Amino acid sequence: MKEIARGKAKTLYEYDGDHYLIEFRDDITAFDSVKHDIVGDKGYYNAQISAKLFELLENNGVPTHYVKMLEPNKMLVKKVDIVPLEVIARNIATGSIVRNYPFKEGTVFERPIVMLDYKDDAYHDPLMNDDMILAMGLTTEEELAKIKEMALRVNDVLKNYFESVGILLPDFKIEIGRDGEGKLVVADEISPDSCRLWDMETKKSLDKDNYRFDKGDVLAAYKEVYRRMFGELPGE
Ligand code: C5P
Repeated sequence: MKEIARGKAKTLYEYDGDHYLIEFRDDITAFDSVKHDIVGDKGYYNAQISAKLFELLENNGVPTHYVKMLEPNKMLVKKVDIVPLEVIARNIATGSIVRNYPFKEGTVFERPIVMLDYKDDAYHDPLMNDDMILAMGLTTEEELAKIKEMALRVNDVLKNYFESVGILLPDFKIEIGRDGEGKLVVADEISPDSCRLWDMETKKSLDKDNYRFDKGDVLAAYKEVYRRMFGELPGE
């Protein structure tokens, strides 16, 4: 299969005229790849967690690029053009919003905050506003409204689901793509690499912050998310 793109943690292959194959690798990076390591089996856990969350979204009426898993860490997806925005929704103040704005760590937002960053490492993914997005021609006005609406809908579905398995969802990032007909669908991945996930009781991080800030064993955290979602670990 022809390699289309090699990202920081995933490789995209041409599968056929309408589909790509995404390989979830064991690479983990942070701070624009200043930090990079290989974490055994991480690709497997992220692929499986992502697949289940895409299925959950589809079952709740949110279109995604997901088709099916072809191998434990290889996902078949519909070909889409990715909108170069990191679509972030926040329920609890943590991370960059606490570093860059006067929000107090742990504050629960009455209404979720949607933030759109320009996806470009060379510019360090800067925060955008609507006028900049439109001036750069990244979306139409109609698409922009739809993207924000999708972020809130995805937030509702994911937040309720994670709470049902004892996990808080402080924030997450999704990417949106345009399919062959120009319809917007959720793409890329939804995993502990791209979501903040906290144990509901202890508030302990079960996501990539373990790696970013050396808080704990990142693979053990991802396995715990998997265990909550699937009931047991593979092979148990
Ligand atoms: O770092 P920050 O607080 O802005 O991250 C907000 C959310 O977006 C977090 O869940 C983080 O995992 C995710 N994110 C991401 N990829 C990035 C930046 C943030 O998945 N490049």
